[in-house]
Amino acid sequence: MKEFSIGTKIVCGAGAVQTLRNVGAKKLMVVTDPFFAKNGLAQAVADAANAQQVKLFDRVQPDPTVELVAEGTAAVREFAPDMLVALGGGSAMDCAKAMLHFAGGNVRLIAIPTTSGSGSEVTDFAILTHNNVKHPLIDSRLRPELAILDADLLTGLPPGLVADGGFDVLSHALEALVAKNASPFTDALAKDAFCCAFEALPASFSGQTQVRGKVHIAATMAGMAFTQAGLGVCHAMAHSLGGMFHVPHGRLNAILLPAVISLNGAAGEKYAALARTAGFGGSVDTIAVRNLKNALVRLRRELKLPETLAQAGVEPREVWRRADEILAAALKDPCCQTNPVPVTEAMLRKLLEEVTGRG
Ligand SMILES: NC(=O)c1ccc[n+]([C@@H]2O[C@H](COP(=O)([O-])OP(=O)(O)OC[C@H]3O[C@@H](n4cnc5c(N)ncnc54)[C@H](O)[C@@H]3O)[C@@H](O)[C@H]2O)c1
Ligand SMILES: [Fe+2]
Repeated sequence: MKEFSIGTKIVCGAGAVQTLRNVGAKKLMVVTDPFFAKNGLAQAVADAANAQQVKLFDRVQPDPTVELVAEGTAAVREFAPDMLVALGGGSAMDCAKAMLHFAGGNVRLIAIPTTSGSGSEVTDFAILTHNNVKHPLIDSRLRPELAILDADLLTGLPPGLVADGGFDVLSHALEALVAKNASPFTDALAKDAFCCAFEALPASFSGQTQVRGKVHIAATMAGMAFTQAGLGVCHAMAHSLGGMFHVPHGRLNAILLPAVISLNGAAGEKYAALARTAGFGGSVDTIAVRNLKNALVRLRRELKLPETLAQAGVEPREVWRRADEILAAALKDPCCQTNPVPVTEAMLRKLLEEVTGRG
């Protein structure tokens, strides 16, 4: 049996932030990182919502820790808002989702992503870091009530963030497509998100801001797909390595994704169909899958992303010293449960060997 539901209303287009005028917030808390407190966007968002009282929680850092979430939870309990707006990338949105989860109550949540990557604005996930391990918190009540996709917020996005987020989108789409809980609904979202992001990313990376709205929508579509279909071994390893070495999440997915395609051989038919839809061709499935993998490697190069952990600044010696810890954390990650083929320690070790690189 398959299940599909959409719990989040989506508003998109240039100037979509103005929707906040109609949400009826009385006591509003804006959760963001220091960057948006400094550049004035957090205040502009609060002004648009026109609430009677506003509180800014602007302490979010990339990959939020449970300690930060505890601080935010205390701030929610003290201020007792009726609405919370999460403004920023996956880290700000995940922090806000977790703050509300632990604070309890019925505070409404609106998400305004400023990167095109995590899809957190529509997912049941919040990724929290504790003692250098990333833990996915998964609960359908984490899904925001409203997601505002305003491409105007992306004009200043640096190319590095376009690339990191872009590969997060591609990995969400590709993992959701072949995941155990995939359905015809998630397949349609995953395929379209993949093709759209793949096509628009080079232009977005080179600074053509008019295409950024397309990648932004693809990010949300990929989020809708994976929150229902599940993810896989690429994300399990990205969580494990990200918690330990603090490399940005999307960059780790870029390093892992092409290698994961080879490991998930049993999903070849679906990978091959996607390769043909995306225009990579392939007369037989094995060639189409190879074309998909090669296309991702070429795009990774074009977006100036690292090909190995070593190129991302992680010492191979450190990787091998902590290999058992890395593999154990990845094996425990819930994303393994929806990978299309059973995940074993031997499989993860092979993946690690392939992506570590030379010092
Ligand atoms: N909840 C989910 O479903 C889900 C899914 C995938 C990833 N994640 C998590 O999301 C996090 C990554 O999120 P992310 O890639 O969006 O990055 P991020 O939120 O960690 O932000 C990275 C940096 O980008 C800056 N930034 C954000 N928007 C900007 C803009 N418009 N202009 C300039 N700078 C900007 C931020 O200030 C920050 O310093 C990771 O912790 C990852 O584990 C969550
Ligand atoms: Fe991700």
